[in-house]
Amino acid sequence: MTLKKIAVLPGDGIGPEIMAEAVKVLQALDLPLQLDWADVGGKAYETSGHPLPPATLKLAQEADAVLFGAVGDWKYDKLERALRPEQAILGLRKALGLFANFRPAICYEQLTHASSLKPELVAGLDILIIRELTGDIYFGQPRGRRTAVDGHFPGAEEGFDTMRYSRPEIERIAHVAFQAAQKRNKRLTSVDKANVLETSQLWKDVVSEVQKSYPDVQLDHMYVDNAAMQLVKAPKKFDVVVTGNMFGDILSDEAAMLTGSIGMLPSASLDANNKGLYEPSHGSAPDIAGQGIANPLATILSAAMMLKFSLNHADAAARIETAVQSVLAQGLRTADIWSEGTTKVSTREMGDAVVKAITTAK
Ligand code: NAI
Ligand code: MG
Repeated sequence: MTLKKIAVLPGDGIGPEIMAEAVKVLQALDLPLQLDWADVGGKAYETSGHPLPPATLKLAQEADAVLFGAVGDWKYDKLERALRPEQAILGLRKALGLFANFRPAICYEQLTHASSLKPELVAGLDILIIRELTGDIYFGQPRGRRTAVDGHFPGAEEGFDTMRYSRPEIERIAHVAFQAAQKRNKRLTSVDKANVLETSQLWKDVVSEVQKSYPDVQLDHMYVDNAAMQLVKAPKKFDVVVTGNMFGDILSDEAAMLTGSIGMLPSASLDANNKGLYEPSHGSAPDIAGQGIANPLATILSAAMMLKFSLNHADAAARIETAVQSVLAQGLRTADIWSEGTTKVSTREMGDAVVKAITTAK
């Protein structure tokens, strides 16, 4: 087996705490992995004056995959935009060409009651939202502030952004989505707002064209407002969902909440060659940082996704997933998923339990 290099970027807030547990789990697998650490986000700003220092970027570029904790803290809110911790994520996405964001929303059997929806609506929920990450209104130019020359209030200050997608950008994310659907239940929902937006009309046309290469996948199109509604009404109707950057940002957070526990949800951001950045779906949770109570499972499950998608170790990924199921079945819970009758454990105890489940299953 060839040695695979992983850039480990713990970041801020609970980042270092949850990363320590994910690293323990990776080490318990006895795989030929080389782990290299670097600072990122607010931590990197403090030590080197930039949230994504050149050395960190280089490490990420040279690695086979990046395992990322989380960045950000309210104490950096006053910094100019380019120096804020969140810029590290945007910089990494751009430098590594990560355009496909995979956000699974899985409702674990033992946690069905943690959802804000009725248990019968979410029991067994397992959907995958694929969000395009590099285009859309978040990056479209021109953008800015100016004095309006027309519109309802000529002469008034206005802000403006530009929603844009090119055909090749839509094609590449559509291929990724159809291939993901082929590996699952061969159903794909493309979400847009084609009744109003030109960008969406192109999106819909291109996704329909790409479908011709995947005749075994059933495709349907849904408007984003309806998708938001269906996600809370009948989420199990979905299997794989593909959508643009902004709609995907919103829908993936909505889907995460259906499972009742952001501390459980991993994510992957991939380039065209399956190199990727893996991180929990949640942020740096400064409100609970340093208390040893954060749930490390989202990060541990992100490490599993990394093994599967980027490092060609699907078996090891499955061992992690089985171990996580096992600790939940044992009734072990961090505070965010605790309920009456279960055992409350710390971040470290949860990581230890996963390691134990892996080593005893050998
Ligand atoms: P958040 O996800 O950090 O926290 C939301 C709530 O969920 C908090 O009450 C937090 O305590 C809880 N929570 C999050 N992860 C948890 C875990 N593993 N275990 C237990 N509870 C958990 O989102 P928030 O509060 O909006 O943002 C906090 C900071 O994180 C901000 O600076 C924000 O910019 C940053 N952020 C960073 C992201 C990233 O690094 N990719 C993504 C989202 C936010
Ligand atoms: Mg978001």
